[in-house]
Amino acid sequence: MADKPYVIDEMISAKAIAARIEALCREIVSEFSDTEKLVVVGLLRGSFVFIADLVRELDLPIEVDFLEASSYGNSTESSREVRILKDLRNAIEGRDVLVVEDIVDTGYTLSHVTNLLRSRKPARLKTIALLDKPSRREVEFRADWIGFEIPDAFVVGYGIDYAQRNRNLPFIGKVRFTEPAS
Ligand code: IMP
Repeated sequence: MADKPYVIDEMISAKAIAARIEALCREIVSEFSDTEKLVVVGLLRGSFVFIADLVRELDLPIEVDFLEASSYGNSTESSREVRILKDLRNAIEGRDVLVVEDIVDTGYTLSHVTNLLRSRKPARLKTIALLDKPSRREVEFRADWIGFEIPDAFVVGYGIDYAQRNRNLPFIGKVRFTEPAS
């Protein structure tokens, strides 16, 4: 699958992403204006570009931590079974937490991760995802903030990969498989 030829069509420009992040950060700052120190948790690896841009727009005292959950491997289909590959470094009991995800697709990853983190009794637990594909949902999950709702397409760029490639594109692009030339 991963070596089938494909092209990438731009779907969301770098400029549009930056503008959306600015607007989202105004809402997040107002939600957490009373926080002592917000723990911003990035879900590896897809959120690493998003979290980097997000935290630089957040005028709040923050701490950054990372958690890695299993994802698609080298395919374009969810495994539906979520495993924690790397846990948080620090305890979150009594803390304000913002979980940062690249995409909500079937919903399995964020619902599993938020259930796990909620069991650790944070004071507040909120979620933000850059992209949401609501038509693909298999378990109920709604992030508190969404950058963009997109249709059922496989996307790459801005930290998001296809078989570990294309994370370094500055925009979000749609993968379009092409037939090999005969
Ligand atoms: P969910 O558990 O199905 O909601 O999937 C969430 C994870 O699947 C995301 O964090 C991504 O790693 C991956 N994913 C979902 N859709 C895409 C896509 O279009 N491109 C690349 N990865 C995706």
